[in-house]
Amino acid sequence: MTTSPDKKLWGGRFAEATDGLVELFNASVGFDQRLAEQDIRGSLAHVAMLGQVGILNGQEVTQITDGLHDVLADIRAGTFEWRLDREDVHMNVEAALRERIGPVAGKLHTARSRNDQVAVDFRLFTKEAALDLAGKTRALRAVMLAEAEKHLQHEVILPGYTHLQVAQPILLSHWFMAYVAMLERDESRFRDAAERMDESPLGSSALAGTPWPIDRHATAEVLGFARPTANSLDGVGSRDFALEFLAASAILSAHLSRLSEELILYSTFEFGFLTLPDSHTTGSSIMPQKKNPDVSELARAKAGRVFGNLMGLLTVVKGTPLAYNKDLQEDKEGVFDSYDTLSIVLRLYTDMLPRTVWHAEVTRAAAERGYSTATDVADFLARAGVPFREAHEVVGGLVGLASRSGRQLWDLTDEELRAAHPLLSAEVAGSLTVQESVRARRSFGGTAPERVRNAIDTARRSLD
Ligand code: ARG
Repeated sequence: MTTSPDKKLWGGRFAEATDGLVELFNASVGFDQRLAEQDIRGSLAHVAMLGQVGILNGQEVTQITDGLHDVLADIRAGTFEWRLDREDVHMNVEAALRERIGPVAGKLHTARSRNDQVAVDFRLFTKEAALDLAGKTRALRAVMLAEAEKHLQHEVILPGYTHLQVAQPILLSHWFMAYVAMLERDESRFRDAAERMDESPLGSSALAGTPWPIDRHATAEVLGFARPTANSLDGVGSRDFALEFLAASAILSAHLSRLSEELILYSTFEFGFLTLPDSHTTGSSIMPQKKNPDVSELARAKAGRVFGNLMGLLTVVKGTPLAYNKDLQEDKEGVFDSYDTLSIVLRLYTDMLPRTVWHAEVTRAAAERGYSTATDVADFLARAGVPFREAHEVVGGLVGLASRSGRQLWDLTDEELRAAHPLLSAEVAGSLTVQESVRARRSFGGTAPERVRNAIDTARRSLD
């Protein structure tokens, strides 16, 4: 019975070669080769530390270090041969190192296990991914803030909806600032997660630590971590850092999906609030008049896979006993996928939103429909001392009267208004424009232009 040459990594225990299908099923190199840079950084830190504490001599450290740089150069050049029979990125790199520098390569794995090796590689990757998405989220926030500033100059008015029924007029800038607030929290979720995962599991070894006199603080520092993880079982066996990344990704996706839905809706012929740029829309192969919001539809749909990645990993970890289990090999693809998906969606929206044209006449006319200033009439009566509930009923009656006769509140006659309530008149109803309605909402966090100005200034300071 022949064994593949790499069985030597396992020592002498195995007399029989691994079944072909098992090899295929077991291998992660198809996707974890993406961790090659992190893997080699981890190995470089480890070998340097082994030299510092006297476990390896200077010559061994130099040989291994040079060899690792060599392997890395090959990987970067795309000339590295990834082998399935070597299972994963760690064993591919180690076997390639042995081919280059001989048996001394075997000393690299002193005081280390693949369990802490993969844990450190994956933390390095996920931390970088979290900070990168934080930065990309910030870039989109800056673009939306700029849009808010631009539209504030002309006090562009948009219908505000609840239940997707016209509710009250708002400033388009106020709408943009709502997303700015959401994105600010999204960014901080990624940064919080990155801070919590900022601990190095390297040196946890297989699960229990190691008898070798290693310096975990030194490797943590070289790798840019704030500190080593405090418990070796937790260090190799926990993936909540990846869960947090996936959770922050899922929430961001939900926000981007809501934004997508609004853009799709507002770009329809029926709404006509905005025109999406040609660069970010597609045509139909059969209907010449069509301009489809594919980017937004895909961004809306991508939330599905990003949510799925979170549920997937939660399900993987929930039944695993401490510490490492092979189940944990399933932790990576979802993180890669959420990272890639959000990287592209964030960039697409960062490019697309400044080129989207809003039609202020249309949005204003839409804001005037649907009796959007009815609350203002009720507020007028309430300010004059009428209990708000009573005022609400009076105005409800007027809306009914107006809608039955196909009119707006300001089309009602003086007599009709006075009949509904003696304090009302055509003059009062006529003064209740959407612009006045917006300007009146000066409560903190409200849509009045000066409030939105304050919100923009505050958001600008937090960005700079
Ligand atoms: N490919 C493995 C993973 O991604 C590396 C760790 C393997 N450790 C082990 N004890 N089999 O999880």
